[in-house]
Amino acid sequence: MLSPKEFIEDSIQKIKDQIGDEKAIIALSGGVDSSVCSVLVQEAIGDNLTAVFVDHGLLREGEVEQVTNTFKDRLNLKFVDASDEFMDALDGIEDPELKRKIIGKIFVDVFEREAIKSGAKFLVQGTIAPDWIETKGEIKSHHNLALPSGMKLKVCEPIRDLYKDEVREIGDELNIPASTVYRQPFPGPGLGVRVVGALTKENVEVCRKANKIVCDEIEAAGIDKDVWQYFAVLTNTKVTGVKGDQRDFGYLVVVRVVNSIDAMTASVAELPWEVIQTISKRITSEISEVTHVALSVSDKPPATIEFC
Ligand code: XMP
Repeated sequence: MLSPKEFIEDSIQKIKDQIGDEKAIIALSGGVDSSVCSVLVQEAIGDNLTAVFVDHGLLREGEVEQVTNTFKDRLNLKFVDASDEFMDALDGIEDPELKRKIIGKIFVDVFEREAIKSGAKFLVQGTIAPDWIETKGEIKSHHNLALPSGMKLKVCEPIRDLYKDEVREIGDELNIPASTVYRQPFPGPGLGVRVVGALTKENVEVCRKANKIVCDEIEAAGIDKDVWQYFAVLTNTKVTGVKGDQRDFGYLVVVRVVNSIDAMTASVAELPWEVIQTISKRITSEISEVTHVALSVSDKPPATIEFC
């Protein structure tokens, strides 16, 4: 078993041997896997790695600044604001699976354009052991990936034999900030799977604000390290409320806080009642479009962690 320091040295040498003087590209989400991979490959091949960070318009509040500030001096970072392209393609789409497929397709389109511009021959991926172990035998360690344009990229997967806790140890050893290394899981399609029904810039913004309040309060209560994921979902249900002395008709927001080990199953975390009350009061008072907050109490299964 290699120490984190030995793993990093060994990995940097292997990446140099594999990529040589060619160019490589990675999609940086700001999560721990892609961040650790980006930094490892940068240490090996320098600015021949382009790290592409795509804003699909479905990121959390402050996330663009957080990821950019964390990596702008450490990586050859290419930030792409493709939010209009994503939102145009998602216009009027209600079906959750279709929303996911569209987000995935536009992501490939955007990434492919950047890959062509960069002249990359290698695609770096943050695959980790649980991602491939179940399909063992079907995946070869050296394989190529053809993008829709026909462009062929050789795949480099520096952390494919590691588990999440080991990736975090490597992240710590690489001096990646704890806010990245211990970040709660966030789905690739972002807030797109936390807004039920068709997405608009307006309803995504309502979801974003509600998410921020949930995060702020869970973190202020010091519970954030004890739970797996905590977030708000904007439903497409509208309910009557009363704000001031006026009747109101606004959105129902659901707060979901779960514990899990591997996301295959999850149980609802028990929260102090004051925290739930504060979250509810803040959401309904600070977000004019929301009249009602509910707490999700369903485990996975039968529910899933996300709503879409
Ligand atoms: P579900 O909703 O399937 O989520 O119970 C299980 C875990 O996976 C995350 N999740 C995703 N992560 N791309 C991702 O990278 C996705 O499309 C995606 N969908 C769900 C979710 O946040 C939870 O941790």
